[in-house]
Order: sequence, then structure tokens, then C-alpha cells
Amino acid sequence: MEKKIILIAEDDPTVGESLRLLLKKKGHEILLGSNGKEALQLFRHGTVDLVITDVVMPKMDGIELLEAVKGLRPETEVIVISAQGTIEKAVQAMKSGAFDFIEKPINPRVISLLVERALEKQTLILQNQDLRSRLEDKFHFKNIIGRSGKMVKIFELIRHIAPYDSSVLIIGESGTGKELIANAIHYNSPRASMPFIKVSCASLSEGIIESELFGHERGAFTGAVTSRKGRFELAHQGTLFLDEVEDIPPATQIKLLRVLQEGEFERVGGNKTNKVNIRIIAASNRDLQEAVKQGTFREDLYYRLNVVNIKLPRLRDRRDDIPFLLNFFVEKYNQKYHMKVEGVSQRTMNLLMDYEWTGNVRELENTIESVMVISSPKVIDIQHLPQEMRDLKGKPDLIQFEIGTPLEEIEKEMLIQTLRATKGNKRKAAKLLGINVRTIHRRIEEIGEATSL
Ligand SMILES: Nc1ncnc2c1ncn2[C@@H]1O[C@H](COP(=O)(O)OP(=O)(O)OP(=O)(O)O)[C@@H](O)[C@H]1O
Ligand SMILES: [Mg+2]
Repeated sequence: MEKKIILIAEDDPTVGESLRLLLKKKGHEILLGSNGKEALQLFRHGTVDLVITDVVMPKMDGIELLEAVKGLRPETEVIVISAQGTIEKAVQAMKSGAFDFIEKPINPRVISLLVERALEKQTLILQNQDLRSRLEDKFHFKNIIGRSGKMVKIFELIRHIAPYDSSVLIIGESGTGKELIANAIHYNSPRASMPFIKVSCASLSEGIIESELFGHERGAFTGAVTSRKGRFELAHQGTLFLDEVEDIPPATQIKLLRVLQEGEFERVGGNKTNKVNIRIIAASNRDLQEAVKQGTFREDLYYRLNVVNIKLPRLRDRRDDIPFLLNFFVEKYNQKYHMKVEGVSQRTMNLLMDYEWTGNVRELENTIESVMVISSPKVIDIQHLPQEMRDLKGKPDLIQFEIGTPLEEIEKEMLIQTLRATKGNKRKAAKLLGINVRTIHRRIEEIGEATSL
């Protein structure tokens, strides 16, 4: 274990000194305070990893010190030393959040072990906090891109509903960001420090979905050699994300409804009723109302899930977001792969703005990542895009004319460009332009140069 800073509060100099020597030998740095007040001062000024405190001390006793430490930095572990007759105080200390207590005379082996365990626990807590803050960062609104009116409205809705416990149903095509939004709701809610547990309902066969959701007791079925917690229990006090919720089989839908209504369920093969407090977020690619009409999804369950409804628009229905998403992902993969790609050229931007994006944001993100990894260009240009994307033309080409361009010229240019677009097919071009074929033949002769098309 790396070197840690341990603060000892002990008014008896012989006990304090022997503890100091013992823990110093284990490689730690030791601060020694001869009463609670002095110790608290040392605590305030340094980055103490662990506190060991006697109970009875002048000026400020161990319990007060413990409470002050927990108030300042709750993740700091505190070990309490109790002398004869102060055992009651030690019990009180445990209630106030002490890691453990040890009785005098102190056994060096026992205290060494306690110190090691407390420091280990503390490291785990810190790692967890770090992970959590990184996760929170990932799902921070600034990392969910959307400037279009439709997305801005959705962000407003999310901010508004995140603090409440009501169920949320997110509907959107694949790749529109359903999971991202579900995470954002959780990490912007008071449940943020509790678990976010995901269940992919489509990937679980009918046989195992109940044991996954509700857990099972030992011997509940062949192969159930131990009992196991289900996702509902794991998500206790947090959020449960039911992805592809339309795939939950009817028999399980009834049980799910009961948990939603009463917060109660039994493990498979068990008869003890478990109570949980969870928020449910469900997601689906399809409009669940259709499934209700077809009779594959229970109407009562649908209404329970659909307290808040979020419909994520397809990317092709919010094209204004495309430039922002492109820049965001270029930046993201620049960081990930230590590259310096500057962005997307204007003509590429035009093409990508017109593209269909049937795979929505996921397809766009994958496209950028693969272009960057394969070509790492200075600027992403059309030739870097996958062939099928280059071949596909989205909207028809536009022709621009300056105000005041003679009509004759406009007509000529329009005719040439239309013929180009129809690859010289005069019949098609005539149809597009709303004139008859003979007229088009005549105009071509007149123009003369157009015949070379
Ligand atoms: N608005 C957005 N801003 C930034 N990244 C986004 C946005 N929307 C989606 N993404 C990214 O696109 C990818 C797909 O998003 P997500 O997994 O949330 O989609 P989904 O709707 O759950 O798809 P599926 O139905 O296929 O599971 C993820 O990498 C996600 O981070
Ligand atoms: Mg998803």
C-alpha cells in the first residue's frame, strides 16, 4: 500500500508514541495531536487519509472529533480507541460513522489490520467517486449535442423532470440517443450517487428475464446453485433503465406492473416479498401505442411507464444539429486518438447535411471515427468518406442566380443542368421542366451548345 497520512489523537503520550512508531514502520506518515482540538486543527490543514482517536480527551473528546471530521470530509475513515468503561461511547461512535473501534490495551496486530482495512475501503470510495464524477461529466448536458429547436425543447423537459421520481418513456429510432438521455436524467437527479442499472430486455430470453429482473433463490431452477439478486434489487434507490421494453414477454409484464405500482416483488423460487425504491426509465424503438393496439403490450403498463414521454427526433429531421455533431465528434476522437484533425470541409459538410442518416447519431459518430482512424486527414473531405456515402446524393442540386440575371440565361442554364441531372434523357427533362418534348428539342437546337451534353 502506498504511503498514507494518519492522524492520531491521543492524550496519553505513551500510547500515542507507541502507535506512531508502529504505523510509521508500516510506511505511513503520522500526525499526532494530544487532544481533540489540536487533532482537528491538524486535520483541517493537511490531507489526512485516516484518523485514529481516543475517546476521553481534554478540550474536545473523540466523539466530537469524529463528528467534526465526518462533517468536513465524510469519506475519511475514523478508528476509535476505547478504554475500559468507555465501551458505550465506542458504540455511539459506530453510530456516528466510525469505521471500527479497538479496546485498550492496544494489540499491535489488531490495530495494523484495522488500519489496513480502513485505508483499503477509503481507496475504494475515492476510486468510486472519481468514476462517478467522470460519468457525470460524460452525461453532462454539454456533452449531449443539440441546438435545433426540437432538441432544445427536449433538454428543457429533461431538466424539468429529472429531479422527480416519475417514470419516463423514451421513444426514438435506433441511434437517436435514448440511452444517453436516460443516463442524463439519472445523473441529473437526486439519485445520481445511487446505481444506474440497465436491462436490455430484447437480449434476455423468456426463460431468464424474470430471474434477471427479480433475482432467484438457491434451487429455484436447475443450475440455480446460489441465490442471486436481480436488477431491481441492484437498482435500489437508484434508476432502472428498461431498454427495448416492448420485448418484455406478457407474463413478465404483469409482474413488472406490480413492482411499478407497489414497489414489491419476490425472487424466482422465493416467497419473501422484497420492497424496492426505484425510478424507472424505459426506452423503445417503436411507438408502444401500436404494440398496445396489437395486444402485445399491456395498456395499464404502458400508462405506468408513460408518465413522462420523450420522443427523440430522427437526425434527418433536425439537420441543423449535424454541423455541431460533426465538430463535437471530430474533437472527441482528436482527444481519444491524439490527432489534430481540423474539421470537415465545406463541400463535405454540404453532403453530410443532405445525407439520410438512417442510423442517426450513432451512424454519424461511427463515420467520423472510422474516417479519422483510417485516413487521419488534416481536413475531412469527400474522398475520405465511405464509397456508398459519396455515391449517394441527397437533395437535388441547387442552382443559384444573382438578382437581375436575364431570364434567357436562366432558362438556358436550367435546361443544361436538368439535362445533366437526367443524364441527357430529354423526355425526363421535359417532364421535370413542365414542357413538352418537342419544345425541349427546339430549345436545345437554339442553344446549340447544349447538344453536346
Ligand atoms: N445528441 C447527442 N450528442 C452526442 N452524442 C450523441 C447524441 N445522441 C447520441 N449520441 C451518441 O450516439 C451513440 C448512440 O446513442 P445511444 O446508444 O444513446 O442510442 P439509442 O437510441 O439508445 O440506440 P439503440 O436504439 O440502437 O440502442 C452513442 O455513442 C451516443 O453517445
Ligand atoms: Mg440504446
